[in-house]
Amino acid sequence: MCGIVGYAGSRPALQIVIDGLARLEYRGYDSAGVAIVADGEVRATRRAGKLARLRESLAAGTPSPGEVGIGHTRWATHGPPTDRNAHPHRDCTGAIAVVHNGIIENFATLRERLEKDGHILASDTDTEAVAHLLEDAMAGQQDLTEAMRTVCRRLDGAFTLVAVHAGQPDVVVGARRNSPLVVGRGTGENFLASDVAAFIEHTRDAIELGQDQVVELRRDGVRVIDFDGRPADVKEYHVDWDVSAAEKGGYDYFMLKEIAEQPQAVADTLLGRVGMDGRLTLDEMRLSDEELREVDKIIIVACGTAYHAGLIAKYAIEHWAQLPCEVELASEFRYRDPILTRTTLVIAISQSGETMDTLMAVRHAREQRARVLGICNVNGSSIPRECDGVLYTHAGPEIAVASTKAFLTQLVAVYLVALYIAQTRGTKWADEVFAVVQLLAGMPEKVEKVLETMEPVRALARSLASEKCVLFLGRHVGYPVALEGALKLKELAYMHAEGFAAGELKHGPIALIEENLPVVVVVPPRARDVLHDKIVSNIQEIRARGARTIVIAEAGDESVVAYADTLLRVPAVPTLLQPLVTTVPLQVFACELATAKGHDVDQPRNLAKSVTVE
Ligand code: AGP
Repeated sequence: MCGIVGYAGSRPALQIVIDGLARLEYRGYDSAGVAIVADGEVRATRRAGKLARLRESLAAGTPSPGEVGIGHTRWATHGPPTDRNAHPHRDCTGAIAVVHNGIIENFATLRERLEKDGHILASDTDTEAVAHLLEDAMAGQQDLTEAMRTVCRRLDGAFTLVAVHAGQPDVVVGARRNSPLVVGRGTGENFLASDVAAFIEHTRDAIELGQDQVVELRRDGVRVIDFDGRPADVKEYHVDWDVSAAEKGGYDYFMLKEIAEQPQAVADTLLGRVGMDGRLTLDEMRLSDEELREVDKIIIVACGTAYHAGLIAKYAIEHWAQLPCEVELASEFRYRDPILTRTTLVIAISQSGETMDTLMAVRHAREQRARVLGICNVNGSSIPRECDGVLYTHAGPEIAVASTKAFLTQLVAVYLVALYIAQTRGTKWADEVFAVVQLLAGMPEKVEKVLETMEPVRALARSLASEKCVLFLGRHVGYPVALEGALKLKELAYMHAEGFAAGELKHGPIALIEENLPVVVVVPPRARDVLHDKIVSNIQEIRARGARTIVIAEAGDESVVAYADTLLRVPAVPTLLQPLVTTVPLQVFACELATAKGHDVDQPRNLAKSVTVE
């Protein structure tokens, strides 16, 4: 998720673009850059690091007087955050500059073709290929809008593209597919941006661009066409948010925005990882098939929410890849003298890629000659740099301390790794792997459906705001979900909350049950009949002792109705994938309860987004 700004008007573009990028820095802060059109050329400046570094570079030079320009603040997906990979990217002639948000799935093929045709591509990014494709498309005709339309028809994946050309000093051209782009309509000036926060200090009149549309922006007008060249219908609207709300996309908290972004985050993490033949392609992990076939044990190390993703990964790995899998708290891992060999694969899961406990575990594993795979959300962070290979989640920046969309994308990533190992080791046939991948492809829509039914969850949360304790029960992959639900409530509502394996209740914890104690129970799919029936028995046991039962169960499961004081429905999905839908109500529950208690949801007390101390 990156931040993009474009301007065409009668004022110097540079400062307007830079200020717009500052409003979008929450969308990505790995690098930043601008390109301004003036005096028959495109002058671009770009720097790794936060926007402040770009400002320093610009301050040291002579600001361009141009009144047309574009800018970008990056959240790295392809290629580490370096100057070389910072946007804007240029073509061979230097006449074109382009910025991009998204993932171009077929960029490797396009890049290969371009290099065969003599183009020199200097970066690791998928974006740079677009600059050279535009160069080729402009060769036949000198219209950037037409060139953009031609190029977009060759791209697969999710993209927002914005470009300028030295030969057309009065126009900015943008295009979008599966990635946001809005127009700001000013007087004698117009704006393009990833979201309205970038320009609402100048205008609140906006146009939301639709799927597969190209926009031509000039100071005195805006033209929108579809990828077939036909004039496109657009939706004009007036923005009534203030700037702060706009940075949160109109939500009161980043956490609410990030919960809402989960369907897109899940979809983005799947993008580009399934070949046309339906086989998983995870070359980016840089672990060869031979290395994966040698693996005889997997150990997952992580902390907090990432650790809960690891617990779920264990079920998937043992079921699909048929490999023994241990899951260890990173802070405990190296002190227990783990048995590691060259054929042990250690998987380190970390949203930030900077968690010191996990980084130290990675170092210990490598000292013991184990191979280490990182699953991280921040490109180029410390943990990926010290792993043998990495599989990035594409959740985009997660600003709220409480991890939500990163968790769901960690689940997608560990499912992909488990399936990939199964595909490589032959413990699952290619068609079996493909069948699961197809189910995964349908999960964004299932998560969306859950998000549409959260009002009862919010009402329930508000009704429990004065409670002192909530327990969470689950079985199988529902047990880590119970742990995650309890962690969310602890870190947001500062309440005592505890997750248990439901089968463990009778071995002690059931003594905690008393009249009206709220207990959340995550019920497995009916298809897991033995597992399902046992947890229904557990619900009856706690209900018989006065518990207030809050049951999360799949649509159509009528067996739990009689025992649920509150019944929350989720779409029916296969057991291993169920955490993708059962976790979401628990995120919303904790967030709403914390809000009801007047807490700072995005920055809970005593916590930090990345724990860089042991
Ligand atoms: C989760 O909501 C917390 N923010 C915390 O447990 C977090 O998951 C943990 O600190 C690990 O962080 P990481 O994923 O960045 O390594």
